[in-house]
Amino acid sequence: MNLILFGPPGAGKGTQAGSLCAEFGMVQVATGDIFRRNLKQNTDLGQLARSFMDEGQLVPDEVVWKLVEDRLGDEDVQSGVLFDGFPRTVKQSELLVAWAESSGWKLAGVVALEVPDEQLVRRLSGRRTCLDCGSTYHVDHNPPAVEGTCDRCAGKVVQRSDDTEATVKARLATYHQQTAPVLEFFDSKGLVSRVDGVGGIDGVAGRIRTALG
Ligand code: AP5
Ligand code: MG
Ligand code: ZN
Repeated sequence: MNLILFGPPGAGKGTQAGSLCAEFGMVQVATGDIFRRNLKQNTDLGQLARSFMDEGQLVPDEVVWKLVEDRLGDEDVQSGVLFDGFPRTVKQSELLVAWAESSGWKLAGVVALEVPDEQLVRRLSGRRTCLDCGSTYHVDHNPPAVEGTCDRCAGKVVQRSDDTEATVKARLATYHQQTAPVLEFFDSKGLVSRVDGVGGIDGVAGRIRTALG
């Protein structure tokens, strides 16, 4: 099964992705995680992405699509993909749909997590992220067992550089202007299930399962 897990910054895409992938045999493809990995390894792609990410802006569509198209050719994703943070513009959505039509790849649906902006700001300011595997935590709602250490890989857990107040505001504005229209695009194809993303992590997980039938 191929799914898009959609939602604004802080909606819980990364938090929900792990168990969904395990349960439905999908591989998570999170463009933001790929950029952060590149940044850590100091690649050209990482340097390019940083200039946009730190401003709360989107990385250009052609750069994102090249990366995703290459990734879709990998052996491990043939059994199913869970997109997290992609597509983020109507252009990216059109590129994916055109590619899917030409390659026989089928999108099962778009699960859209809905969370009001005030909550998103609270979640992002308390979020902590593993530098090594990208797992996300929250100082109040979902802390690692040992402070500063990742439960999954024992990596260092820190605050993401784009989770500062100013950048969070810019990311939310970018979402409303450029990313929210993606939902209308997939709505017109009858592919969107909206899920209330407010409340405990397990409650949201249950509602996603209900939406998936
Ligand atoms: P990206 O890494 O995709 O970030 P994002 O979309 O801003 O989303 P987040 O990762 O911030 O939120 P999330 O929904 O994963 O929430 P999480 O589960 O962590 O992108 C970063 C940047 O890269 C972009 O700004 C852009 O520059 C660039 N980029 C990436 N993809 C791109 C693309 N396709 N095109 C162009 N540019 C691209 O949860 C948040 C917090 O809330 C955590 O602390 C968590 O523990 C907590 N939480 C989760 N669920 C709950 C709950 N139910 N109750 C309470 N707390 C909860
Ligand atoms: Mg994320
Ligand atoms: Zn980790």
